[in-house]
Amino acid sequence: MFKQVVFSLISAVFFSFIPITAHSQSPASSLPEGEGKPLVETVCTSCHRTNMITRSSGYTSAGWKELTNTMIDLSDNPQMQGEIIEYLAAHYPPNPWRAPTLVPGEVQISFKEWIVPTLGQRSRDPVEAKDGTIWWVGQSGNLVGRLNPVSGEMKEYPLPANSMPHSVSLDHAGNVWYTGNKNGTIGMLDPATGKITVYKMPDPDAKDPHTAVFDNDGLLWFTLQQSNMIGRLNPANGDIKLVTMKTARSRPYGIKIDADGAPWVACNGSNCLVKVDPETMALTEIKLPIAKTTVRRLDIDSEGVIWYVNSSQGRLGRYNPKNGKIKEWPSPSGPKSHPYALVIVDDIVWYNESGKRPDALVRFDPATEKFQSWPVPSGNIYAGIIRHMRPTQDGNLLIHQTSTNRIMVVTLNPKLTEH
Ligand code: HEC
Repeated sequence: MFKQVVFSLISAVFFSFIPITAHSQSPASSLPEGEGKPLVETVCTSCHRTNMITRSSGYTSAGWKELTNTMIDLSDNPQMQGEIIEYLAAHYPPNPWRAPTLVPGEVQISFKEWIVPTLGQRSRDPVEAKDGTIWWVGQSGNLVGRLNPVSGEMKEYPLPANSMPHSVSLDHAGNVWYTGNKNGTIGMLDPATGKITVYKMPDPDAKDPHTAVFDNDGLLWFTLQQSNMIGRLNPANGDIKLVTMKTARSRPYGIKIDADGAPWVACNGSNCLVKVDPETMALTEIKLPIAKTTVRRLDIDSEGVIWYVNSSQGRLGRYNPKNGKIKEWPSPSGPKSHPYALVIVDDIVWYNESGKRPDALVRFDPATEKFQSWPVPSGNIYAGIIRHMRPTQDGNLLIHQTSTNRIMVVTLNPKLTEH
């Protein structure tokens, strides 16, 4: 307990100099007057601004306590904690402003969750290893973690300073590759020895490796969002090749490999999808119909059809490379739903509406074009955000919540309930 308190205090001080991400940098919102205000302004702004609080769905005292306990341990100072919680519950009680439109349906799923050790670490991007263990990264905690879902045992590996890993992928041998989003590196952790090998980007303009994926030849493909580049790392010799996107500030984001070995990239700053020639790295850009479209993530179904989230417009999209046809559907919670992560499991599309509270998990069946959705729980409360999701080997879904320090498995039960 003592160790945890000390660690969270250290991390609170440490993170006070490190903003979480560029997109949480809107101006601080002013909090209403009240007794706990100065405390909240000091204690709660070491990792993010107060707009996280003002934009939240609000909670009861018990809810605020449960939420903040996943970020900072104040148990050594119950009086201070009490004042903070009281202030939050009085000024930010539960509100329906960002409530999703949930779509009922017949599919049943269940959520299983783990709270990761280092508080407020921005846990994200879980991925399953062949042995069933789950790896994740703590982006602001500067760590890679491993979870044994059977025993619940967890281990965190600190990374070289300022890596701020955005994502983690595993190679065939089970090595753990993370993207050093803040220090222009890709790193490989050997889980057997704990040794980390760091690969520096060969170009100083290539600053922010973001999401990475292995192709069948063992090459690691990755996006660099703000640097507007796509990269390829050859683990055999450490060689890194980079190409710049065709459209300025198109912000390459999600990346997936198709059945022919070609990477596809989502543009988070422009209305495009991009196909990469795996040999030459030549880029082909596909323009999406609505000019203001931005796309966080995409996936590819068994027919080679690309599914994507139109995040800025609150839509789900489909692009068929065989005939060039594009179709989009409004997401159930509308234009401000900000669909974010997306993955296809057994040709069913799963994504989340991250602009909503609760963050809704949405299922879309391409055969019937029907939606169904669920609020994603964190214990007794609801917060967000799922930023990346991947399937497990047995066809379930690995998700996470960056706000509540959770790694989660969603068991997808395709069986219909009896009538
Ligand atoms: C050690 C870091 C850390 C500290 C300290 C911290 N938080 Fe957070 N908080 C996070 C992270 C990480 C997120 C998720 C941010 C993201 O995904 O961009 C978050 C998200 C939130 C959210 C958004 C929840 C949602 O709707 O998804 C609220 C509200 C919040 N924090 C309140 C607080 C309050 C109140 C305090 C002070 C008691 C606090 N935080 C202190 C790390 C921290």
